[in-house]
Amino acid sequence: MVHGTISEKSPTFKLENYKKRSNIIMKEVKNKKKVLITGVAGLLGSRLADWIIENKGDEYQVIGVDDLSGGFEENINPKVNFWQMDLVNHPIENIFESHKIDYVYHFAAYAAEGLSPFIRTHNYQNNLVATSRIVTQCIKHDIKRLVFTSTMAVYGHGEGGIFHEDMRRNPIDPYGVAKMGCERDIEMLYAHLFLYPNSIDVEEYNWDSNEFTKLNYYVK
Ligand SMILES: NC(=O)c1ccc[n+]([C@@H]2O[C@H](COP(=O)([O-])OP(=O)(O)OC[C@H]3O[C@@H](n4cnc5c(N)ncnc54)[C@H](O)[C@@H]3O)[C@@H](O)[C@H]2O)c1
Repeated sequence: MVHGTISEKSPTFKLENYKKRSNIIMKEVKNKKKVLITGVAGLLGSRLADWIIENKGDEYQVIGVDDLSGGFEENINPKVNFWQMDLVNHPIENIFESHKIDYVYHFAAYAAEGLSPFIRTHNYQNNLVATSRIVTQCIKHDIKRLVFTSTMAVYGHGEGGIFHEDMRRNPIDPYGVAKMGCERDIEMLYAHLFLYPNSIDVEEYNWDSNEFTKLNYYVK
């Protein structure tokens, strides 16, 4: 995305130079790998965007999405190609269709563990439904890698001592349940796509559906 403005009245404006510069920029951007960060106005998303732009900006272009329900607009690095969208209700396929996305870091969430029993629907929509919609687009657009951020809330009270990923998942609030659902959804998908690749008839799968349980219908 080209930031800044150029006016025809500006004494330095020369259409040919501008076109030449635009073409160079577009070519540079085209050659870069595309990283989509959801929740790019939030704490982790904005910091990752800054890091990529500062350290890997010549290799990667950052595309960001956030509905600004949380986070801060001023967190968003001006070099991010930003889409203000709600992952639950808006046509997020437009982002994937407009950019050939290579990698997705899915950070957007409504992370309110203690509040979640009182905002059950909001919690499941913004955590579980939003994630399933992102995952659907990842499959449909052949994303190389999806990074999902879960939470220690999936382990509930834990088993005493230090928490670790081999512990039994036993969430005790809707936030933990939603995140556990996201983990299971992604694990199931991974198994179907990579461990048992012949188990899905990709041609027949209804990609417009968000219901991943449908994958089971195609297990051979
Ligand atoms: N920060 C932590 O200590 C921590 C710990 C454990 C897990 N996590 C997880 O890491 C991720 C990022 O955490 P964070 O601290 O950066 O959170 P954050 O609240 O700072 O950022 C989340 C961003 O997601 C956006 N968002 C929420 N719902 C959305 C929707 N429906 N559509 C589009 N955007 C939406 C918000 O506007 C916000 O900018 C979350 O998934 C969170 O559950 C964070």
